[in-house]
Order: sequence, then C-alpha cells, then structure tokens
Amino acid sequence: MNKKTVRDVDVSGKRVFVRVDFNVPLDGAGNITDDTRIQGAMPTIRYLLEHGAALVLASHLGRPKSGPEAKFSLAPTAKRLQELLPDNQVIMAADCVGPEVEAQKQALHAGQVLVLENVRFYKGEQKGDMDFAAQLASHIDVYVDDAFGTAHRPDMSVAGVPQIMQAQGKPVVAGFLLEKEIEFLGGAVEQPVRPFVAILGGAKVSDKINVIRNLLGKVDALLIGGGMANTFLKAQGYEMGDSLVEEPSLELAQSLLAEGGDILVLPVDVVVADAFAADAASKVVGADEVTAGWRVLDIGPATIAHYANRLAAAKTVVWNGPMGVFEFPAFAKGTFAIADVLANLDATTIIGGGDSAAAVNDAGLADKMTHISTGGGASLEYLEGKVLPGVAALDEK
Ligand code: 3PG
Repeated sequence: MNKKTVRDVDVSGKRVFVRVDFNVPLDGAGNITDDTRIQGAMPTIRYLLEHGAALVLASHLGRPKSGPEAKFSLAPTAKRLQELLPDNQVIMAADCVGPEVEAQKQALHAGQVLVLENVRFYKGEQKGDMDFAAQLASHIDVYVDDAFGTAHRPDMSVAGVPQIMQAQGKPVVAGFLLEKEIEFLGGAVEQPVRPFVAILGGAKVSDKINVIRNLLGKVDALLIGGGMANTFLKAQGYEMGDSLVEEPSLELAQSLLAEGGDILVLPVDVVVADAFAADAASKVVGADEVTAGWRVLDIGPATIAHYANRLAAAKTVVWNGPMGVFEFPAFAKGTFAIADVLANLDATTIIGGGDSAAAVNDAGLADKMTHISTGGGASLEYLEGKVLPGVAALDEK
C-alpha cells in the first residue's frame, strides 16, 4: 500500500484521533450481538496504547435521522472496549463535540481512551460541514483511519477531519485493519495470483453491475448465484416462473452476457419452491425448467458441482453475496456448499463482507478463509474499482 500507516508516525505522548467503524448490531436491550468490527480495530488500538498514545475514538452507529437517540448511542461499544482493555481506562463521552468534550480531550492521558458519542447525531457529519469537522479535529495531533466499513462515505469524520489535519501539517495515516483490507481486496483485484475466480450472489443485478463490469475484465471466471442469477437466466431466454427477476435490468444482463462470454458462468440447475417461506415445498429442476407457481430460492447440486470444479484450480477467490435464501435452512445448501469448497481450497480466499461474511460465520468456516472483509458497501465499491474517500484522504508514503 502506498499510504502511510501507524507504523510511519511517532505517537508517543500524542493525542490520536482514531476513526473506527463500531457500527455493530445490537439487540433490543442494547447488547452487541456481533463484535467483529470492534475486534477488527483492536490491533490498532492496542498498538497505539502500547506506543504511549492517548486515544479519541470516533464512529457512527446506525442511521439516526434527527439528533441524539439512545438506541444509536455508542455506549455499548465503550463498555465492550473496556472489557477488552482491562488495564486501560475507557471513558464514554456524552457528546462528540462541544465544551465538555473539549475539556475531556485536553485532560486525556497516555493509555486512556475517550469514546466520542455517535458522530451522526450531528447532521453536519454527512452534510460536508467543515466547522463540525474542525471541532472533531481540535486538540488532536495524529489522525488514524481504521474504519474500512465506512471508507466509502465522504463523511466529515472520514474525509473532513483529515483535510483539516493535513492543512495543519499533521499526520493522517491508516490503521492495521484498513491496511489489511486494502492489501487483500486491492491485491486480489490488482495483482491476483491466477486463476482468479469471483463468485457473486445476492438479490439484484442492478446492485452489482459495476462490480460485474470491473471484475469481468480481470477474472478468469465469474460464477453467478442468488436472486440475480434469475435475471441472467431470463435474459438468456429461460422462463423463470414466479422467481424474482429484475425486468428493467434484462437488457443490461444480456449485454453483460455478451461481454462476459465463457467467463460469466450461470447455474445449470436450481432449487425451486412453491412459496417464499422456510417450510415451502421444494424440488430441484434444470435452470431451463422453472414453471409458473415455482420460484428459485437456491442453486442446485449440479451447479454446486460445476462451480466447485471451476474453483478447484483457483489461486485467488473473491466472494460477495449468498447463492440462495440462506436464512431459510432448506435453501442454504448452495451458500454453505460454496463456503465449504472455499474452505478447502489451496488459494487466497477473500469474503467481501455483508451477507457472505454472515454465511461463512454461520457455517463455522470463518477461520478457514484468508480474509473476511469488515465492510459490506465499502468492499463492493472497492471491487467496483472506485477510489474510497477514506483511503484517498490518507498521507502518501
Ligand atoms: C456499514 O455498516 O456498511 C458501514 O458502517 C457504513 O454504514 P452506512 O451504510 O450507514 O453508511
């Protein structure tokens, strides 16, 4: 990576602002149900504390619309952080800017962590308000971005604060998580060890057009599953019964098929159901045998075998999006089978966040993958070939 990281700066005795992505799922009682993102930032947090820094952590949580709301408070993440850092003092701030926070920042000692309250409690965070960014940046010596999950947002805590820091001649560097994400996702796309195979699933072609376009020029095979396979199959002239098909994207699917040629690989058989329900009646049919009253909810066994075959020799694999409705056990076989194939490959396997990361976790195969991205939207935009604002903002090496 040609961007500076925490290794390139002296943080001893410095007040370091770390943009983390603590946008974690919470249950109704405010308990964190998956702390992967907090764990993901721990190497950076620990490194900075061990090197004598005082930390100010900033994040968003959820999408609050109108100011502070208790259910979007970052307090549960500060509590979790304190459990993970028993020897350091973690202080939860009541706000992210304002006189009280200013005083808390100034009083902070090396080894202490101040967790700012949700930056999205202020509209300015997402409205390009540089005064808000300046308040976040005040009394800060070094800016560290470790929020890969939010790197695609041009928000003030991601892109605005770095601008102010750089104008003041202060360092803006990446944390270890951001560095790792860029190395794996970027490395796979820019310099893959071949054969390079991508697997794309999920409901809609329209969500992933740019990913497909960008990857078609780079991969040796692009295996399609999930709801979006239906749109491709229909574009090929097959009847899809009651399946989810994106009619407005049919023409586009046709042109991607023409562009992709042999590289774009579609299911040869599918699991169809008579309703969108966990207990629906189901059967396996050829991809060209879907009839009225039936809808595709998973890829079939012949497709699993076909895809496993295409993956067998792969040296780099990127997977984004489930192969079927894996939330229903009856229609999770395709997704879990692909996870299993990947787990047994002698290849670099990269899981592009979101649902596919959840599927790999559900399958108990997370530790068998080379890298599971902590960013859903961010990893997709990265795979589209876009420059992410959170990455662009960092100091060059
Ligand atoms: C995510 O969960 O993908 C990131 O935290 C970004 O959240 P957002 O989509 O609300 O900007």
